[in-house]
Amino acid sequence: MSSAPAPAATIVIFGGSGDLARRKLVPALFELHCQGQLAPETAIVGFARSVDSDEAWRADLRSALAEFGQTAHGEEEWLAFAGRLFHARGDLKQTQSFVDLKARIEAIEAERGLAGNRLFYLAIPPSGIGDAAARLGEAGLVHPAEGPGPWSRLVVEKPFGHDLASARELNEKVHASFRERQIFRIDHYLGKETTQNLLVFRLGNGIFEPLWNRRYVDHVQITVAETLGVEGRGKFYEESGIFRDIVENHMLQLLCLVAMEPPVAFEANVVRDEKVKVLRSIRPQTPEEILRDTVRGQYAAGSIDGRPVPGYRQEPNVAPASGRETYAAWKLQIENWRWAGVPFYLRAGKRLPKRVTEIAITFKTPPIALFRRAGVLVQEPNVLVLRIQPDEGIALRIGAKQPGPTMRVETVKMDFKYSEHFGEKTPDAYERLLLDALHGDPTLFARRDEVEAAWELVTAVLDVWRENPARDLPNYEAGTWGPEGAMELLARDGRRWRRP
Ligand SMILES: NC(=O)c1ccc[n+]([C@@H]2O[C@H](COP(=O)([O-])OP(=O)(O)OC[C@H]3O[C@@H](n4cnc5c(N)ncnc54)[C@H](OP(=O)(O)O)[C@@H]3O)[C@@H](O)[C@H]2O)c1
Repeated sequence: MSSAPAPAATIVIFGGSGDLARRKLVPALFELHCQGQLAPETAIVGFARSVDSDEAWRADLRSALAEFGQTAHGEEEWLAFAGRLFHARGDLKQTQSFVDLKARIEAIEAERGLAGNRLFYLAIPPSGIGDAAARLGEAGLVHPAEGPGPWSRLVVEKPFGHDLASARELNEKVHASFRERQIFRIDHYLGKETTQNLLVFRLGNGIFEPLWNRRYVDHVQITVAETLGVEGRGKFYEESGIFRDIVENHMLQLLCLVAMEPPVAFEANVVRDEKVKVLRSIRPQTPEEILRDTVRGQYAAGSIDGRPVPGYRQEPNVAPASGRETYAAWKLQIENWRWAGVPFYLRAGKRLPKRVTEIAITFKTPPIALFRRAGVLVQEPNVLVLRIQPDEGIALRIGAKQPGPTMRVETVKMDFKYSEHFGEKTPDAYERLLLDALHGDPTLFARRDEVEAAWELVTAVLDVWRENPARDLPNYEAGTWGPEGAMELLARDGRRWRRP
């Protein structure tokens, strides 16, 4: 939240040789370095098995920056950044590696005049998170949460568990070494500028909040559509599916931000209290209701942008008769005073015609059809669209009179584009989230009860799906907007999905 440089610390990236570190974390840290947001003493220490030395890690990260960095950099900037980089070779499964890591960190801290603040970033396979957190504690690398001394914080990537029981178990394990205020569970959607703008838009303007309720809103649609398939991650997808991968975290987070009550202060626990209340207000569904109000889909071969693409079952490491979903739609009801009776429709899918993440709020039509006599029979409802990515912005669809002697109403769009007003470059979500973790601000991170409440809802659906396998998969062609069942889900309510 602050624009002052972050407090000096040692940032330890477990999984420093991995995809996330190379593609997102190190480029984000480099940007922060170039902007003067990192204190001069701050050190970045990688931890992995396959990297032999500081030099080897630096060389690898230099090519990662060339490939994934946001801005081109000069030799001088690189050398200054490289001076912060160190690598401790080790195996997460070995206690000795953590003992060695501690000695290495202490040496680096002494050399660079660091007071001992430590940010541990677990960019490692999910199965290793619980044990890594426990070993950090056992090795004495974690400072106590209380007291005036240096701090230790843990950043954990998604997925945080794969169902309610495993999320609870993981929380227990992590809590053996870290207190809740030391734990930063990442959902990178929360670090996106447009996601944060959602709150500013709603609560920093006087004109929207009065309309933001059951009296004026007809329904809400949240869409996360991708044109990509599983892109070589067949094994991961077979275990996960889109409901765990996207709906459980990103989509429920967006839902919370749209639906929550205005917090009394923009403070971490106050905001997170309101988000948890939304999750707890979602009406629990019986198994019959789950089967009625959810839709599973899986893509068959088709074409994207005129290019033929294989079906999910033909992707590498996918079972030839896989029942895993690559599309999901879900109708939810939030039972509170603000939203009772307003359906929220969520859909996420791979191999859809367009890459788009958006929230569309459809308002009720005016109570009287004033222009009916003039021949205007149907007036389209107003729709407010919050585009999270790409083409970030906000659009409002309104009716306007077509010029001419007859009364014709046409739907037009008022469109605000982020890039047009603020320029093309917006900070990557990881820049913001890393900075917040260094500042100790957990507002944009998920709290324990939030994660567990989300998993509770999602696990109820997954359990019913497991008991009732879908028999019609694959049920949509790549390059189309998903299965017929998803269209019927809205048609039953007299509505239809938007075509973004
Ligand atoms: N990639 C993304 O865009 C992305 C997005 C969201 C979330 N995530 C999450 O971020 C985490 C990392 O993902 P990733 O894509 O970066 O995975 P990855 O490319 O497979 O990298 C895993 C990293 O963990 C290290 N590692 C694995 N086992 C180890 C062990 N026993 N001891 C020491 N190091 C070990 C690997 O290093 P060595 O093999 O050299 O030991 C490697 O650096 C996962 O939890 C993933 O779900 C990733």
